[in-house]
Amino acid sequence: MASSQITSCALVLLALCSAVQGAIDRHALVARFNPVRTASSTNTPMQVGNGHFAFGADVTGLQTFLPWATMSDWGWKNDSFPPGMSAADLASYRGVVWDGVQYEFGGPEPTQQWLISNPNRVNLGRVGLLFVDGDGGAANVTEEALGGRRQVLDLWTGTITSTFRWEGEEVTVRTVAAQSSSALSLTISSSLLLHGRLGIFLDFPWNDGSQKFEAPFVGVWNATSSHTTSLKTGSGLGRNVHAQVAHTMVENTFFTSISGDDFTIARVSQAAHRYEIKPRSPQGTFSIAIAYSSAHNVASSTPTQIQAESTEAWEDFWSNHGFVDVLTGSTDARAEELQRRIILSQYLLRVNEAGDYPPQESGLVDNGWYGKFHMEMFFWHSAHWALWNNWDLLERASSVYARFLPTAIERAQVQQGYPIATLEKWREVVHATADWMSVFAHKNTSTGFFDLGPPMYVVSEDTNPNVTRNPAFELAYWRFGLDHASTWLTRLGEDVPALWTEVKENLAPLPIENGLYAVYEGIPNDFWDTPTYTNDHPALVGLYGWLPRTANVSTDMAKATAEKVWTSWNISNCWGWDFPMLAMSAARNGETEKAIEWLLHPLFEFDDIGMPVGGVRVPTPYFPGSGALLYAVAMMAEGWDGSEGNAPGFPTRGWAVRTERMSKAI
Ligand SMILES: *[C@@H]1O[C@H](CO)[C@@H](O)[C@H](O)[C@H]1NC(C)=O
Ligand SMILES: *[C@@H]1O[C@H](CO)[C@@H](O)[C@H](O)[C@H]1NC(C)=O
Ligand SMILES: *[C@@H]1O[C@H](CO)[C@@H](O)[C@H](O)[C@H]1NC(C)=O
Ligand SMILES: *[C@@H]1O[C@H](CO)[C@@H](O)[C@H](O)[C@H]1NC(C)=O
Ligand SMILES: *[C@@H]1O[C@H](CO)[C@@H](O)[C@H](O)[C@H]1NC(C)=O
Ligand SMILES: *[C@@H]1O[C@H](CO)[C@@H](O)[C@H](O)[C@H]1NC(C)=O
Ligand SMILES: *[C@@H]1O[C@H](CO)[C@@H](O)[C@H](O)[C@H]1NC(C)=O
Repeated sequence: MASSQITSCALVLLALCSAVQGAIDRHALVARFNPVRTASSTNTPMQVGNGHFAFGADVTGLQTFLPWATMSDWGWKNDSFPPGMSAADLASYRGVVWDGVQYEFGGPEPTQQWLISNPNRVNLGRVGLLFVDGDGGAANVTEEALGGRRQVLDLWTGTITSTFRWEGEEVTVRTVAAQSSSALSLTISSSLLLHGRLGIFLDFPWNDGSQKFEAPFVGVWNATSSHTTSLKTGSGLGRNVHAQVAHTMVENTFFTSISGDDFTIARVSQAAHRYEIKPRSPQGTFSIAIAYSSAHNVASSTPTQIQAESTEAWEDFWSNHGFVDVLTGSTDARAEELQRRIILSQYLLRVNEAGDYPPQESGLVDNGWYGKFHMEMFFWHSAHWALWNNWDLLERASSVYARFLPTAIERAQVQQGYPIATLEKWREVVHATADWMSVFAHKNTSTGFFDLGPPMYVVSEDTNPNVTRNPAFELAYWRFGLDHASTWLTRLGEDVPALWTEVKENLAPLPIENGLYAVYEGIPNDFWDTPTYTNDHPALVGLYGWLPRTANVSTDMAKATAEKVWTSWNISNCWGWDFPMLAMSAARNGETEKAIEWLLHPLFEFDDIGMPVGGVRVPTPYFPGSGALLYAVAMMAEGWDGSEGNAPGFPTRGWAVRTERMSKAI
């Protein structure tokens, strides 16, 4: 009797406790920020995707009025060689030699430009809503002619639902991306279907590497004779596939396979690459799947399977990984916007930046740098996955360090002449990287220290590499890297190579001018007042912030240097991850109010659907800004090695912060 009373008492207490301390209501917080649009944006598309593949939509949920991109981590093509260039030129290409080291740039044209712009990332094609007029022809409809437009992206299931009226009738389009393939499920519901008034059109652009940036749209739609398409229907295609368009550009062919409800498909004219798809039987809904691939015989999922996959994968993403609630219980008015940025960045990074290669600056939205990986910014794009416990997503692209290692070692040893031991996934990568770092640093016989550079390009890329010696941030990062590689090896029970230790212990001291760290040793001492040096990434604030406490960095001097950056740097020229990096430095230095201000700085913008605005320097979207935001938020909310208390990077007044399944930053 007594014991059951105690038990029920305990249950009541437990219930009371969990009402206060219970799990974060993740669904409510995610759904609160479901983006809604009533008109197409000409700057950014609403997207569905899976990290390997993404589809950008206008207000119809398709690419009806605006040719947003359909892009992937596998869709690449080569241009043909320009006049005067052959495969032999490619094989014999060598770049410049600086101080006896050969770098793969600065070689002969036109080979060098071909190498820069190839392979380039392909926009796989366009899918739009086809409006059919009374006599069966294509009707010329503009967005303004559609009434009651409203589009919602349900973040929890990865579903865009777009509704509008045409000719007085309601139309609903549901757009979902597959999670295990590069496919799309489309479901149109409208009484107009009963009268044959709606269908789908496909179109295919020419893609080439003639432009470094292709934004906001990718591909050329009127160069129809530069490429070919052909249609196949009937049997002999992949399982479930009823029709397939093969799209060939030079020597690369991409396949678009259509399955689902019965339809007819026809090419509009031989001169164009446009195909029209119409439901074969009059029903109130029409569902099809459109799958993209580089092989012609792939099985297609059904629209229903794609929808189920999307719901399952997104629910898992939101429910079972890291989560931060800065909103519930906060009284600071900025909490709403910060929570919005967090949720929408999580969605967009999983759509755009979770492929098998490091992402490009603009993810799968548009093309920058010919669609190439943004490898030098991999940390800002992708390190947040670790803190948010999305190891599965981090594993995809981070595996390139092991996959590329053989060619990287060959380049360093054979072409550049650095001695590097070749060893077995991460162990080899860590070992080879630390080997290279310790032979790149060279002993200065007059000082006895190991110097970095010249030549040396620093984070800000705004100093002359030929005179840049011992840059402060890079020295601290070198020390950090060699320290971690040594710890790693020790934990594996192996001996640390003596050279690593010698270099690490004898790296040149960080350059100091007037009690503050300087960008590099020998920089003009009025550099703080010289626009040449104060207009780009302020990496000096990374000395303690982005980096944890490292040997040879005084945290007091690092803090004073960061505060000098606040007043002397041209902050109006900062962009993207600069702001989260400034926030991380402020947070580690105990300046939590300032950390929030940097995270929500007016020049660090996210649009209505959470796309990171490029700002003064780069096109939109600039995803390192989103990745860096999530890294900084994780660090400020969950803490870092050695931090104390709950949410150590947030001000104590006005903010209530709760986390689930997050990891601390180092
Ligand atoms: C492009 O050409 C290079 C050099 O010949 C080749 O290694 C690469 O596989 C080609 N890529 C594609 C997508 O065709
Ligand atoms: C740096 O030195 C190399 C090799 O001597 C030279 O080709 C290059 O133009 C120099 N770069 C600058 C920015 O001075
Ligand atoms: C479609 O209509 C718009 C505006 O009414 C017009 O500018 C455009 O030229 C028309 N296009 C065609 C192909 O008729
Ligand atoms: C395609 O359109 C662009 C811009 O409208 C124009 O400059 C170009 O000449 C056109 N190309 C062809 C092949 O028609
Ligand atoms: C050695 O270090 C001193 C001081 O940093 C520098 O002036 C000198 O140029 C360095 N020597 C060499 C050979 O790099
Ligand atoms: C850097 O730190 C190490 C200890 O880790 C110390 O032995 C060395 O003297 C320091 N060097 C400088 C230049 O401060
Ligand atoms: C600071 O950055 C702004 C924005 O890019 C630019 O217009 C201005 O010229 C820069 N100021 C200086 C002193 O370089």
